[in-house]
Amino acid sequence: MLLTITRATLADAEALAGLGATTFSDTFSGTCTDEDMQEFLDENFNLQQVKNELANEQDLYYLAISDGKPIGYLRMMEDYGNLPLMKQWKALELKRLYVDKAFHGMGFAQDLMKFVEQFARQNQFEVIWLGVWEHNVRAKKFYEKTGFTDSGFTHNFPIGSTPQTDNWLWKFMEK
Ligand SMILES: CC(C)(COP(=O)(O)OP(=O)(O)OC[C@H]1O[C@@H](n2cnc3c(N)ncnc32)[C@H](O)[C@@H]1OP(=O)(O)O)[C@@H](O)C(=O)NCCC(=O)NCCS
Repeated sequence: MLLTITRATLADAEALAGLGATTFSDTFSGTCTDEDMQEFLDENFNLQQVKNELANEQDLYYLAISDGKPIGYLRMMEDYGNLPLMKQWKALELKRLYVDKAFHGMGFAQDLMKFVEQFARQNQFEVIWLGVWEHNVRAKKFYEKTGFTDSGFTHNFPIGSTPQTDNWLWKFMEK
């Protein structure tokens, strides 16, 4: 199946909010209380919030379209707020990479990651970095497979009142 990766616009807000909420809930339900999950979804994937993010030129959302349907998305930005020490490089934060669970293991995530790397090279980034929940074994395996290593730094990523720890991974672009 062919995948098209395209920059999301305001016209995609509804589709993106729906896909964002579904994939987040599929990934993290059961790791926090149902109330915490609902609150997180309401706060982060409501239509207005997604529209605000899409309206920001620096906030790079891309949709992965297969057979005319969005089956995954990524969000990336040059943003050092979460880990200021990254400022010593020109660094691209991969804030999200989510593929609908019906499409896991089909190579789409690799296509999205290749797209991110190509974008990083074309825009002279020196490193790509991302946070992954310490117990998200599938994602950790995927990132290991695509050349990311553990930076040794961590951060708290609580879902509501449920504390969770993310590991910061990184991949330096070869010169
Ligand atoms: C993370 C994600 C993008 C990876 O895409 P994918 O299509 O599932 O990735 P792949 O199948 O190519 O790679 C996953 C690897 O983990 C392995 N794996 C799957 N379940 C596993 C488990 N429970 N324990 C260990 N390894 C596991 C797979 O076998 C595969 O390795 P292999 O190719 O050597 O067989 C996708 O799973 C996803 O969208 N997950 C939900 C959202 C998410 O977690 N995003 C990342 C947030 S940081």
